[in-house]
Amino acid sequence: MSDVREYVLKTPPGGIKRYDHEALCDLLKVEDYSRVIFEQGVGREAIVRVYPTNPLMDVREISLDDLAMDGRGRITLGTYFDGSPLRFRLFDPKTGNAQRGAVFGTTGAGKSRLVQAILVACKASGIVVHLADLKHGQSVPEAKGNVATRVTTQYEAILMLRGLVAEAERRMAAYAEMGRSGFVKDAPDPLTYGIVDEANRLLEKGAPFRDEAALLIKELGRTGRSVGVGIIIAAQAGHLDELGGSDTLRAMLKEGEVILLRWSSAMMQQLVGDGLIPRGEALQPIPKVVGQVRKIRRYNETRADDEDDVNSQGMLYHLTGIRPTSMARTYVVGSIEPCTGYDPLILALYGPQAPPGEPIDLEAHMTAKERKAAGGGDGEDDEPSTSEPELDTATMSTAQRILAALPADGLTEVDLLAALNADGGREVRRGSLRTTISGLRGKGEIARPDSTGLIVPIPAD
Ligand SMILES: Nc1ncnc2c1ncn2[C@@H]1O[C@H](COP(=O)(O)OP(=O)(O)O)[C@@H](O)[C@H]1O
Ligand SMILES: [Mg+2]
Repeated sequence: MSDVREYVLKTPPGGIKRYDHEALCDLLKVEDYSRVIFEQGVGREAIVRVYPTNPLMDVREISLDDLAMDGRGRITLGTYFDGSPLRFRLFDPKTGNAQRGAVFGTTGAGKSRLVQAILVACKASGIVVHLADLKHGQSVPEAKGNVATRVTTQYEAILMLRGLVAEAERRMAAYAEMGRSGFVKDAPDPLTYGIVDEANRLLEKGAPFRDEAALLIKELGRTGRSVGVGIIIAAQAGHLDELGGSDTLRAMLKEGEVILLRWSSAMMQQLVGDGLIPRGEALQPIPKVVGQVRKIRRYNETRADDEDDVNSQGMLYHLTGIRPTSMARTYVVGSIEPCTGYDPLILALYGPQAPPGEPIDLEAHMTAKERKAAGGGDGEDDEPSTSEPELDTATMSTAQRILAALPADGLTEVDLLAALNADGGREVRRGSLRTTISGLRGKGEIARPDSTGLIVPIPAD
């Protein structure tokens, strides 16, 4: 591109500590600040390029090819300003690790479209997704029927997250039993993600399940990775407290995929202040309107009709990527014009086939107290009862059936297996009994094995 001016600058060792984009543009006499792209290189070099227009103004539509996971476990979500691909990792074949991901940005910055692209990628790559769309299912409506589990309320999201943590624990015990140190994709378990859009609703101050949500998300980030259970959240916030405190972010940033879309400058300062973005990393701000010239108009001059239309959706920094300070943008995902129903372009990306995986049995992850509250609250013909509730073994998890079947003084494995296979629920095989038991031992619900060989429950306190 001959009409691009390029300046190579020497910076102080370690790079620029404070970067004033406007001052630089004024110095270069460029009125449209978005035409100037600043990139801190490694060491003492920085590059400033002045484009005829912002190079990210016209990006192409995303394709299924972009979203097919490559041999390194990455998908392509968009492009950097210089045309190189913006890659996002969903799997690390070298370590067998699932990822934890976070997408941050203010309302309208493009979080949900980016999530939608990840959802399409997962479906196309045989990755099982359990999704919480906490804006009443409005953020990514086309995901309905295209993910294994889809919930839209905070309570269901908690049940879903409990289910994911339980699955991670089950896998840990099962893999340990198999003598395996890590996750091998699809042998036998699929790569699985929990994805929460509008996670701020779960994590903000005063949210009903805030503490548990933060705990479950952190727990998944900690233990899920190595057994192929990942977590991705999308969130907006004006303050770190609204994301369950800076801890949630710190865990994400330590080893994860973090994307920062348009973000208020106050939030940006907190991220730097809290050490979440390395000090001195100079991020050129992402304006709401790109291409706007802040020139005073003379008396007869008119402004363009569309000059205040937001047009920077999808512009972002991939903070944990190889170029954290280079501006990038997601490709166009779906229709530009609003649709009256489901977006046909997005439905076409998902394709008609059924999504991989089985839904999480949400009820199985209710506590006894919650189940009682849910069962006893509404029915007029509910008998008031103090006796043991009838167990619906068909909808209970194996773990719950085990705990229900075990008397206080325990059972042998043979007797427990017989009891389970007489309780009216699905058939339980010895292998799955053993892995579930080691999972329950890990959680402190069943005692460690001893010389009697009896399986003994640990009473809850
Ligand atoms: N990658 C994209 N491709 C096409 N349109 C986009 C993209 N990102 C954002 N938009 C536009 O911006 C609007 C807001 O994006 P959305 O993803 O819903 O933002 P957020 O979830 O951050 O509030 C969308 O309705 C769409 O019109
Ligand atoms: Mg959204």
